[in-house]
Amino acid sequence: MEDLLRYGYFDDEQREYVIDRPDTPLPWINYLGTDAYFGIVSNTAGGYSFYRDAKLRRLTRYRYNNAPLDVGGRYVYVRDDATGDYWSPSWQPTPERELDGYECRHGLSYTKIGSARNGIRAETLYFAPLGETLEVWRVRVTNERTESAEVSLFSAIEFCLWDAQDDSTNFQRNYSIGQVEVVDEVIYHKTEYRERRDHFAYFACSEPLAGFDTQRESFLGAYRGWDRPAVVEAGAAKDSIAHGWQPVGSHHVRLALEPGETREVIFVLGYAENPKDDKFDPPGSQTVNKTRVRPVIERWLRSETVEKGYADLRAYWDGLLGGLSVTTPDGDTDRMVNIWNAYQCLVTFNMSRSASGYESGIGRGMGFRDSNQDLLGFVHILPERARERILDIAATQKADGGAYHQYQPLTKRGNNDIGDGFNDDPLWLILGVAAYLKETGDLAFLDEPVPFDNEPGSEAPLYEHLRRSLRYTLDRLGPHGLPLIGRADWNDCLNLNCFSDTPGEPFQTTENASGGVAESVFIAGLFVLAAKELAGIAALRGQDGEEVVYRAAAEKMAGTVTEHGWDGAWFRRAYDFYGNVIGSGENDEGQIFIEPQGMCVLGGVGLEDGLAARALDSVAERLATPHGIVLQQPAYSGYRIELGEISSYPPGYKENAGIFCHTNPWIMIAETMVGNGDRAFDYYRRLNPSAREAISEVHRCEPYIYAQMIAGKDAPTHGEAKNSWLTGTAAWNFVAITQWILGIRPDFGGLRIDPVLPGGWPGFEAVRSFRGATYEISVRGTGRVTHLLVDGERVEGNLIPPAAPGAVVRVEAIATA
Ligand code: BGC
Ligand code: NOJ
Repeated sequence: MEDLLRYGYFDDEQREYVIDRPDTPLPWINYLGTDAYFGIVSNTAGGYSFYRDAKLRRLTRYRYNNAPLDVGGRYVYVRDDATGDYWSPSWQPTPERELDGYECRHGLSYTKIGSARNGIRAETLYFAPLGETLEVWRVRVTNERTESAEVSLFSAIEFCLWDAQDDSTNFQRNYSIGQVEVVDEVIYHKTEYRERRDHFAYFACSEPLAGFDTQRESFLGAYRGWDRPAVVEAGAAKDSIAHGWQPVGSHHVRLALEPGETREVIFVLGYAENPKDDKFDPPGSQTVNKTRVRPVIERWLRSETVEKGYADLRAYWDGLLGGLSVTTPDGDTDRMVNIWNAYQCLVTFNMSRSASGYESGIGRGMGFRDSNQDLLGFVHILPERARERILDIAATQKADGGAYHQYQPLTKRGNNDIGDGFNDDPLWLILGVAAYLKETGDLAFLDEPVPFDNEPGSEAPLYEHLRRSLRYTLDRLGPHGLPLIGRADWNDCLNLNCFSDTPGEPFQTTENASGGVAESVFIAGLFVLAAKELAGIAALRGQDGEEVVYRAAAEKMAGTVTEHGWDGAWFRRAYDFYGNVIGSGENDEGQIFIEPQGMCVLGGVGLEDGLAARALDSVAERLATPHGIVLQQPAYSGYRIELGEISSYPPGYKENAGIFCHTNPWIMIAETMVGNGDRAFDYYRRLNPSAREAISEVHRCEPYIYAQMIAGKDAPTHGEAKNSWLTGTAAWNFVAITQWILGIRPDFGGLRIDPVLPGGWPGFEAVRSFRGATYEISVRGTGRVTHLLVDGERVEGNLIPPAAPGAVVRVEAIATA
């Protein structure tokens, strides 16, 4: 262990992760933007920006899967004009130049990257101010020498021609359409402006320019890369204007620095849209309309505006994170709960699965299932945005209760790009709505009219959507009375209806995928959970008759699981198209899967008769590894048409026995439900990124956020993480630690304090806002909470009586041991 490299450390005071060597195993990225203008930025300044939609409104160009990785970014070059030596303070794209004191600080929605070379220090702060559609780069250059210095500074970005997919494929057109305009030293990227007339980008600098460039070949020189741009080498911009080919933006600034002097240079990259009936810019106009953006640009090029914008951003995050903070005996827990896990939950909510180091921004829309789960992790921070998101999702639901698997963020319409018939989808809506109601108590939400499939006139109360979600499962039961799986369930790759209907010619189609009779024990568990949640909601509305019906449906399904879904020591996974069992001791491979062990117990199946505890022991015996719990065992050793994509992965990766981190918190929660705090917390720590920081060289992904997958024990790279950032792992780990292990759990009737802690903890402290009041909570002892002292008054049980909005309430939770 001691021999492993470290790449940085946590600065909890600043809420930053500080990377102190640039050659991290993979680009370690962060996100800029909080609302409509977004970007990703790596520790070596790689990444790109977009407005709302990473596919259709991409501002800057980035090349995924390139060598070296992470090409394209927000580059700054410094040139010592006396010697001609030049470098980039972010190490890339000039990795041959040695740097002193490299440091990257990833903070909440901002990143600072700085270093020095030969006595010239440069540090850039990147952030996108609240409420604007632009990003700021504030560069500070300091002369640390004893003599004065003449330096040049060059900025550099490459513009994307907006549609990122078209941009990377349609070269016959794109090499001819690029257009820019440079007016008053501001670079405007206006490709397609004349045709669509509504959007453009701008790139501006606070200092008088020595020159600029907008044609990539002029800036770099023919056959050169970003590591040695000809213009930077020569120390003189060419004032090039792009006509077609590859428009770029680069400013050249000359600075004369006295010894010890620091100069600040601000760059602003932004996105602008003009009204469709723009009076200033008649159709056919060759120039972009600067009337509205000029004042914005001028404002953000001022140092005071930037200072204030940065302070506002920090205050924004203080406010968001103030909603829940904990002080426990475990520093890694505190750091993740108080800072990074909450941050990742919000980023994931904003991005869904669109733009990361692994999601290209052009592949996927918003997931019906994914977005419902994402909101579990941030509903306590921004309930109004959860509300809005739920309404968007519910409006894509079909009249039969079914769901489009994804929808587009710009149009908010369901799409069928990867097919539908993922039969678990509708049930997640119930869980999302239940979480919102528990947090807010906003019962009127259930009466909100919401259309089906966005059809005007089809509006029905949100509550009716939930009814249909449940009905959707009941209308689709298979031969054993278990829910039909359709195309797949949570496990996208378990494609059990992929059969051959032409002898000798195996194939998979959407039609046969959703038409078969394969059944899912996982959906059964999810159904039991969702039916109980809906029963709770019905009870709140005083619809007692319905409550009884839903509880009976849950009960019945639980019985079916026990009858056909129990394998003797664990829950089975499914029945395939042919009626063969999956996830059973009868199978040669894939005998036990994690998902039904987690979800059936979450639904309460087996809690009373001991099956739950037995299933969890099987997980510990067969699936747990020091790096987390693998998805199934034994891994599939080869492709099987009757199982689909799951068996297409090499053993130990992704759904084929990888540690699919999303599922691990289900087991943590299940362990708390059987009262096993030690095991729950042990599993939690195995995945906790901060606790894994010491093995960064093995883990390889960012140590401040969760990854979707860690290679399982069958993989040669066991312990290596992939697919960091945009994953349901973030929300579920947050729920597992805060609501079940620490036990601060919103319920329909109020806030519950029901911790199931690891032995040896004396308790912990927390501050939680809930329905407008603030609760200062002390938990004393490790056993189950028997009573509370609420402002000194004894209350039996673990439910805090609701306090008036604005109140600050002191709660002591007294546990038995
Ligand atoms: C991956 C899944 C993912 C799906 C998205 C599959 O290839 O293994 O994890 O959810 O693609 O379509
Ligand atoms: C990632 C998808 O986004 C999620 O919806 C799915 O449940 C998991 N992969 C497992 O297949």
